[in-house]
Amino acid sequence: MNTQPTSRVLIERATPQDLELLLRIEQDSFSAPWTRKMLEVELNGNQFSHLFKARSICDGHASGDVVGYVCFWVVFDEVRVMNLVVEPSARRQGIAGDLVRSMLTLGQAHGAVRAILEVRASNLAARGLYEQMGFRETATRTRYYTNPTEDAILMEMNPLVIAGGEPSRASS
Ligand SMILES: CC(C)(COP(=O)(O)OP(=O)(O)OC[C@H]1O[C@@H](n2cnc3c(N)ncnc32)[C@H](O)[C@@H]1OP(=O)(O)O)[C@@H](O)C(=O)NCCC(=O)NCCS
Repeated sequence: MNTQPTSRVLIERATPQDLELLLRIEQDSFSAPWTRKMLEVELNGNQFSHLFKARSICDGHASGDVVGYVCFWVVFDEVRVMNLVVEPSARRQGIAGDLVRSMLTLGQAHGAVRAILEVRASNLAARGLYEQMGFRETATRTRYYTNPTEDAILMEMNPLVIAGGEPSRASS
């Protein structure tokens, strides 16, 4: 894919070499983090899966530090957000927004016309982010999550529209 520079980060496709970094970010951010095996499957073994990483930019150059990632599936005409995380020290700088726009751009290029996701009811940061990006809450799944047990809020963007930020470059 073409890399997509934004003002804050460089967004690129993650590779199996990024596994340790992704695992660390995951463990720093979730009460029930994805395991190494789960990440390996998304990186190597799932034809629908895409994983984009965000690398910080310093003095116009990518520093190499991975500060966040998004994992999503493009299943026919639908983008399914599987995971999204930005490391705690890099939050509130628009990086998740950049990752979501890159995800939607690739989804659109592959023919997706809508996007869906689930989010913990207590996760007001993520709900706020998705709302800002144009997702709307459509339903609640009671006690969907474990560790801790919690409802899931289902969100949908239909039709898929890419809101705000730099126009994205074509990704393949
Ligand atoms: C949710 C998360 C990915 C947001 O990442 P981020 O890079 O900080 O988000 P952005 O800077 O792009 O924020 C964009 C918008 O989202 C909303 N938002 C982000 N963090 C928020 C917070 N803590 N509280 C309220 N709204 C928030 C705001 O509307 C924000 O726009 P603003 O800064 O102009 O007000 C990040 O907090 C995170 O990694 N959390 C832990 C993992 C997680 O919950 N992932 C989601 C799984 S579904």
